[in-house]
Amino acid sequence: MTDDIGMLKGMALDVMRKAYCPYSKFKVGCALVTEKGNIYTGCNVENASYGGTICAESNAIVHAVAEEGPSMKLRTLVIASTSEDPAPPCAICRQRIGEFGNPDTAIWLVNDKQAQISYTLSDLLPHPFVFSPEN
Ligand code: THU
Repeated sequence: MTDDIGMLKGMALDVMRKAYCPYSKFKVGCALVTEKGNIYTGCNVENASYGGTICAESNAIVHAVAEEGPSMKLRTLVIASTSEDPAPPCAICRQRIGEFGNPDTAIWLVNDKQAQISYTLSDLLPHPFVFSPEN
């Protein structure tokens, strides 16, 4: 199934505008599609204790798990920011996407202008940490 990237881009930009980012002033939004075909969104939510900040991608993923439960799988994510070069996900968010995605999970980076670029998770996270109790 092909996801409607234009629609997801609109949703990512809409939720981006709700970001709580008084410290960085950098707004990020994420709209994701699960393997079940459901769409969830999230924006960044900062905290005075900077480490308490929640990224947009993590917010959307947590939202998806809360709705679908632990079997939730990611198919596509669209990440919106206002930067000239659309912002790629931070390393922790890449690892978090990897927890629920697969090497082919699509990650689109968009901005509020015309820029959009697509990657797969394996492009952005070629050597994920995988925990196995035998390690
Ligand atoms: N941010 C995200 O929402 N996602 C990322 O993958 C990278 C960074 C947010 C966190 C913080 O509120 C702001 O961008 C600046 O780092």
